[in-house]
Amino acid sequence: MERLDKLLASQGMLSRREVKELITKGRVTIDGTVEKHPERKVTGEEQIVVAGELLRVQHPLPLMLHKPQGVVSAARDARDKTVLELVPPEYRRKELFPAGRLDKDTTGLMILTDDGALAHEILAPKKHVPKRYRVTIDIPMTEEMVHRFAEGIELKDGRCRPAELTIESEDTGVVTLREGRYHQIKRMFGCCGAAVTGLHRLSMGALRLDDTLAPGECRPLSEEEISLLRQQHLPE
Ligand code: URA
Repeated sequence: MERLDKLLASQGMLSRREVKELITKGRVTIDGTVEKHPERKVTGEEQIVVAGELLRVQHPLPLMLHKPQGVVSAARDARDKTVLELVPPEYRRKELFPAGRLDKDTTGLMILTDDGALAHEILAPKKHVPKRYRVTIDIPMTEEMVHRFAEGIELKDGRCRPAELTIESEDTGVVTLREGRYHQIKRMFGCCGAAVTGLHRLSMGALRLDDTLAPGECRPLSEEEISLLRQQHLPE
């Protein structure tokens, strides 16, 4: 059960203020009866008519977020702003959580979802969904690094799966990982004597970050994009 005003605002068509106005002005009916109380509890199964239009309750969609710097990817944090706080009210869902982590200073593609099964498919180590990052380091990229990444770098918590490093310019490259350990890319470059100065996730599975999304913006994923996310090949 959910408050009528929250349910209506969560559908993405109207702001909280507009919803409240429509309800208090008697423009909303539930199962044929005018309802003027925004706090009335509903399940979403009722026949709700808003300003003459029958409401079709939208089921929650996973979101694509362009994570900006300085925001943490935890669901809750006492000190720092979290990625969930970036989600506009119309896309907020009670159970929304980030599917996977990025460091506070990492930018780029994040998926927020309330679908545990989808999150599992993206994150489960056995699925090997590739995650691709653009990385900038403080020293020149070398063929030796490319080779060591391909062999599998030995970290404190074990050997990494082979990773691809493609050098793009003197200090920038693209890394593809098929696992996700804590600070993995920073630690891998650390083993090569380099510090990461910029890290941006470009894609997950076959899904790329929509480059029309500014840092801090998010939008729902289409069905097609959700299926790209589950795929183990890289984006075209
Ligand atoms: N590797 C890192 O070191 N940090 C990230 O945020 C993602 C991958």
